[in-house]
Amino acid sequence: MNSSKDISKIKKEYQKFKNSKKLLDLTRGRPSSEQLDLSDNLETVIKGDFIQDKVDTRNYGLLEGLPSARKLAGWVLNSDPANIFVNGTSSLTLLGHYLHSMIFHGDGQVAWKDLDKVTFLCPVPGYDRHFAMLEKLGIKMISVPLVGDGPDLDSIENLLETDETIKGMICVPKHSNPTGETFSKEKIEALASINRDGFKIIFDNAYAVHDFNNSKKLPDIEKIFIEKNSHDSLIMLGSTSKISLAGSGLAFISLSPNNMENFVNYFSKFSLGSDKLNQARHTRIFNSKKALTEHMQKLAKIIKPKFDLVFEKLNELPDGLAKWTKPSGGYFVSFDSLKGNASKIHKLCEEAGLKLTPLGATFPYGKDLENKNIRIAPTQVELEELSEAMDLFCICVLLAEES
Ligand SMILES: Cc1ncc(COP(=O)(O)O)c(C=O)c1O
Repeated sequence: MNSSKDISKIKKEYQKFKNSKKLLDLTRGRPSSEQLDLSDNLETVIKGDFIQDKVDTRNYGLLEGLPSARKLAGWVLNSDPANIFVNGTSSLTLLGHYLHSMIFHGDGQVAWKDLDKVTFLCPVPGYDRHFAMLEKLGIKMISVPLVGDGPDLDSIENLLETDETIKGMICVPKHSNPTGETFSKEKIEALASINRDGFKIIFDNAYAVHDFNNSKKLPDIEKIFIEKNSHDSLIMLGSTSKISLAGSGLAFISLSPNNMENFVNYFSKFSLGSDKLNQARHTRIFNSKKALTEHMQKLAKIIKPKFDLVFEKLNELPDGLAKWTKPSGGYFVSFDSLKGNASKIHKLCEEAGLKLTPLGATFPYGKDLENKNIRIAPTQVELEELSEAMDLFCICVLLAEES
């Protein structure tokens, strides 16, 4: 698509898309079938051998996961396996359990349900499902801007000074959803230095090892928090949803010894063990850090060309209309309409058959006050469809400017 085309030509191209009645979808950050194919060996790796880590994986027990699964999760989160709890297939579910444990029981101090109000800081644009979960649980959210290497520290400081109900923060520290940014050492150190009783920073590290080449390195979060004497403030989450299979992988949470004791005390009332069979499947395939890295490199080979295509198409837009992030890994590109045209672009796209993440979803309560942000999720679709979808998207950006 050439942005120098006159508007009547662009309108014609838009109409052509509309008439084709083709449905395109850049909604969710899901892996493509080609990515999932790389984990097909999970189906056959057990071969009747159910003993892993000297444990019969078919039985109850090991709520916190097999030692080898905790080691694997430790590679992903860069955390001591002793601090890791592997259970279930979804980090979101573990997050939900963790929040429930804090609401009903707290971490040995006050349970959040006994407080008048609990507020969380939410770096934005952020992950819609975090915001939906916090809203559902009655936790108030306050947006804090992300500034390219993590959240704006001055805003956090001001808010903490004036609002005692702030009990935590939730963020994605690497290849953030959707901005793609990776937090700097300065930010992590400042976050680890927040001195507030019972304050919890939830790092949902869903894209911890999802690098293209030359990705920015995430500082050693656990080490920094331990050095600053604030391990109890640190909650880290992750999963293999975007390493192996989405919805059938392994989910994990990393907690300080105190937090682990409280969390296990809570969680053990709801389950008699973990799915060790699935854990064995994973630890046999990802049996070394090297095996994990090689697998992620294969995934990057599939994903990176899709990001390159998105950038190629967006680069054709005239200057001054929009800006977008250029992540070096992860699953998303965050697009900002500089003219506050997000709702117009969104409507035009939807009317011509291109589905996008719901408008405002990247902000708490679905409210993008500047009407600018749109999350682009290019991984699931094939290159050809992505190319069409981005052509249509760019046409809509241009048309929104005109209307
Ligand atoms: C930041 C973030 N956290 C969690 C998830 C979902 O992870 P899981 O499948 O482990 O629940 C996603 C999926 O898009 C995500 O982007």
